[in-house]
Parts: sequence; structure tokens; C-alpha cells
Amino acid sequence: MPVTIQQLIQWKQQGRSIISLTAWDYITAQILDAAGVDLILVGDSMAAILGYETTLPITLDEMIYHAKAVRRGVNRGLIVVDLPFLTYQESIQQAIHSAGRVLKETGAKAVKLEGGYPTMVETVSRLVEAGIPVMGHVGLTPQSVHQLGLRQQGKTQEAGERILHQAIALEEAGAFAIVLEHIPADLALQITQKLSIPTIGIGAGKDCDGQVLVTSDLLGLTEKQPPFAKVYTNLRQIINSAVQEFSTEVREKNFP
Ligand code: KIV
Ligand code: NA
Repeated sequence: MPVTIQQLIQWKQQGRSIISLTAWDYITAQILDAAGVDLILVGDSMAAILGYETTLPITLDEMIYHAKAVRRGVNRGLIVVDLPFLTYQESIQQAIHSAGRVLKETGAKAVKLEGGYPTMVETVSRLVEAGIPVMGHVGLTPQSVHQLGLRQQGKTQEAGERILHQAIALEEAGAFAIVLEHIPADLALQITQKLSIPTIGIGAGKDCDGQVLVTSDLLGLTEKQPPFAKVYTNLRQIINSAVQEFSTEVREKNFP
């Protein structure tokens, strides 16, 4: 049975952790879906496989192209697609147009956008009114890297309260879930307890309703990972040894 938004909210109530990972291609999406990943995020962290240093250059067309490939590999997981930088901040019309394209062209069920400041809360509310499910994202928001850097957010009492209020406002605007990125664990716990929609943490402690990682970090495909990522295997090394072995066999005429 495909995962629905209602299911995610039910899982929060039941205390059943939500498993989320990113996918940018058909093969990865297929593997994650078969492994039972609940929420498959076509994140703009895709910058990692395109060789960009930040998420800023990613275009809506690139997100749509990759989301279509992911969609073809997924039967069960809920697919959420990031709206990339400056494809929703300009105006509510721009956000509806971009999110509408994602849903109509890819078959994904929801979009994610960054920020919880008042105009973004209004945008979320208008998207939801238009029938577009929206996931929020507060704390460290990588599309604001030139303002925030990649530092942990919400460290002072005041900054923490600001993030808490943004999360509450996003829930009130109709967001169905919210990513909490790189904030103190006690703040994430407080937000998780306060909200009735699920929180999905990344670098936000163990008490969120679910956890997400960037798949290329979890697999050790990226050269460097953020401090909060856990590298479960080293595919970079594994691929390198396979290539070395192939090269040796070809040189020594042992393959084919
Ligand atoms: O782009 C992404 O992968 C994300 C997750 C880290 C939440 O936004
Ligand atoms: Na993202």
C-alpha cells in the first residue's frame, strides 16, 4: 500500500518512526523503495551528484527531470520534491506555478520548501489551499547558505523560540510535515512535542518523529559529509576497488 500523508500523521501518533532518504535516480529510488523507506525525498542536495558546491544553481527543470526518474522506481514510498532556490520565493503565483509543475509532470505527491518567515507561511497556506501538499523545512536551510553558513541554528534561547514559532506557523498554514535541520536536540524535541504533524530530523537529535539522511552521505559516496551524517558504508572505496580489479584483469588479459 502506498504511503499517504494521513499515514505519516498516524505514525506520529503511534510513535512509529518515519524513515526517509533522498533519491535522485531510478535505481536508487527502486532500492530504497524495496527496502521500505517511507518518504523518498528528491532533495536539492542533488547538487552533490552534479558537482555544485551549494544547492543554489539547481533549476526546476532539473528537479523535475530527476523526480520523474525517481517516480518510475517507486511503488510504495511517498515522494516529496524540493522546490529549488528562487522558484517559489518571488511570489505566491510563482510558488503555485512551480509546485503545480512538479505535481503534474512528475507524479510526486508533495513539495518541500525552506523557511518559516511570514511570507513563506502565507505561501504554504496558499499552496495548501490550491491542493498541493507541502512539507516545511526550518533550522539550517541550505538555500540561505550565504546568510547562515552551514552552522547549527537555534542555539540561543531567542533563536530557538524563533524556530519553534516558525514550525507552529507552518503547521497552522497546513504543512503536513516539517524537516528540522541542524538544531539542538532539546529544541527539536520541544517542537516535536508541540506539533501534531511529524517532524523529520537531520542533525536534530533522536527525538524527531522520523529521520532523513542524504543517501550519498549514508553510502559514503560523497567526499565529505556534514558532521551530523552517519556514513554506513564506503561505496567510494568499494567502487574504486571494483574498478581497480577490472583494470588489472584487462591489463593482464584475464578479462574477459
Ligand atoms: O535536499 C535535501 O536532501 C534535504 C534534506 C537534507 C532534508 O533537504
Ligand atoms: Na533540500
